[in-house]
Amino acid sequence: MRIALGSDIVDIVRIKKIMKTFDNHFLNRFFSDYEISYAKSKSNTAIHLAGFWAAKEAAYKAFGFGFAASYNITHRSNGKPVLNLPEGLTRPKSLDVSISHIENVAFAVVVAIFDDNDSE
Ligand SMILES: CC(C)(COP(=O)(O)OP(=O)(O)OC[C@H]1O[C@@H](n2cnc3c(N)ncnc32)[C@H](O)[C@@H]1OP(=O)(O)O)[C@@H](O)C(=O)NCCC(=O)NCCS
Repeated sequence: MRIALGSDIVDIVRIKKIMKTFDNHFLNRFFSDYEISYAKSKSNTAIHLAGFWAAKEAAYKAFGFGFAASYNITHRSNGKPVLNLPEGLTRPKSLDVSISHIENVAFAVVVAIFDDNDSE
């Protein structure tokens, strides 16, 4: 068994500045339609985008595959985030993501458990 772990911290002020400068170009390049509409449905869009961004980077760190934006987040009906993997990636036996944010900081951690012992 192999456990892969990734985490990331995102400065929400930076996300707000990027949103102001690049607007939809930034959103469409890095976030899924679901992620954009979820974040826009909330009163503070940037904190939710920052949480998604942190989750994507955390996923990239855990898997070391592809482009962080190719990982995306959806939610269970109770609000728990679900990490969806890009095509071409070995599916882990178990996978989980957790996201948190406070006023100016978002954090995410991803854990994936594989059957193999590959240390890569
Ligand atoms: C859902 C809950 C865990 C979120 O915690 P929080 O401290 O308010 O907020 P955080 O910034 O740490 O986490 C927010 C993220 O948690 C995630 N989340 C939401 N519901 C979740 C759930 N049921 N399970 C796991 N994660 C969840 C989401 O990714 C959310 O981000 P989003 O708003 O961008 O979608 C919290 O509101 C809650 O319901 N806690 C239950 C425990 C409780 O009753 N505590 C109070 C007494 S001790």
